[in-house]
Amino acid sequence: MPFPFERTFSRVRERVSPLVAPRVRRGSPLPPEPDVELARLTDYPSPYPSGWYALARSSELRDVPLHVRALGQELVVFRSKDSDGNETVGVLDAHCPHLGANLAGGACRDGKLTCPFHEWSFDASGSVCAIPYAERVPPRLRTRSWPVEERDGFVFFYFDVTHARGRRDAPAPTPPYSLPKIDGLEPGGTLVHRGDHDHGVVRMHLLEFCENSADSAHFEPLHGAMFVPWTSTKIPGLRVHHDATWSRDDTHSHMTWFRNHAVLEAFGKRLPKTAADAAICIAGPGGVVTFHFDVPRFGRIVLYQTHTPEAPLRQRVRFRWYAERTMPRALVWYVVGNWIAQWREDIAIWENKIHQRKPMLVREDGPILAMRKWYGRFYPSGTIHEPPPNEPQSNDAPS
Ligand code: FES
Ligand SMILES: [Fe+2]
Repeated sequence: MPFPFERTFSRVRERVSPLVAPRVRRGSPLPPEPDVELARLTDYPSPYPSGWYALARSSELRDVPLHVRALGQELVVFRSKDSDGNETVGVLDAHCPHLGANLAGGACRDGKLTCPFHEWSFDASGSVCAIPYAERVPPRLRTRSWPVEERDGFVFFYFDVTHARGRRDAPAPTPPYSLPKIDGLEPGGTLVHRGDHDHGVVRMHLLEFCENSADSAHFEPLHGAMFVPWTSTKIPGLRVHHDATWSRDDTHSHMTWFRNHAVLEAFGKRLPKTAADAAICIAGPGGVVTFHFDVPRFGRIVLYQTHTPEAPLRQRVRFRWYAERTMPRALVWYVVGNWIAQWREDIAIWENKIHQRKPMLVREDGPILAMRKWYGRFYPSGTIHEPPPNEPQSNDAPS
């Protein structure tokens, strides 16, 4: 029996509540509020694990330095040519160790980056090479530099948690792993560039992408529908059957593979000729992901998907793809657009979920805990849930 004035009250509440803040919404989550985001953050692992990340596209990096805010760092990325025409690409802390000017306002010349304030010059290793008004440059003056590699259209850098917390004049660490080289992308290789897409920022933790690949039970409910490529429009009568597995790479301990065999179903009938395989390589904690699509009778497509944490729950997502020259462009557009349409279905989940440190799981859920355990290797303590400083270490994720 409803309360006598319930309808009147609810009408008044509906009118007044937008003036305060919405508290109820039907069918989709409420928009985020700062305190909710903060609470979400407290249960997630630390947002910046060690690994390779894309800082920029090669096309963005010309002869003017770029200021990039990522992984909790203020960074400057520069490309500079020496007098012989040899190019250097470097990533340094953005703020000059002298008196703190932002080096992004400086100049790229002679293979160095020169500060706009007193014109100290730095090479890509962070060493101070010249101080125009000083009689001599004291030895071992340097700023923090980061390992960098430019390839396949991206400027990647290696973020190291210990290096970030250490002395700023410590030399850059040697990355414990390299990004995998992709067959066909070497100069003169069989793959050619076919497109780029910048998605912008997704409000999620980096871990979620890896966790998604091990979470086999979500494929049918979330990715079972067939979409018009690049959109969220479902195609009636068509479904996609997924057969997905997650596994660690046998020889490279920093890599995992997510393999998916997908077949279309039209009105409940499977169409074996539509079967296509995708092998997805996650190198490191998920900053750089490469998809290898094999389309029977047509050839191979390679898609880069990069996640760069710009803030704890903010991932900048970029795509870039290559295909065999003989592949029809429309087919490449369809395959890539199909993946991106499926990936977009995950975003609404990621942006509104929390991290369950001790999830309630059943046997058929997939190797989620094994994935979390593996992911711990990208944190100094070896676990994703780092203990607070000065407390004994323990992994509170069940194993
Ligand atoms: S602040 Fe950079 S040279 Fe002085
Ligand atoms: Fe997914």
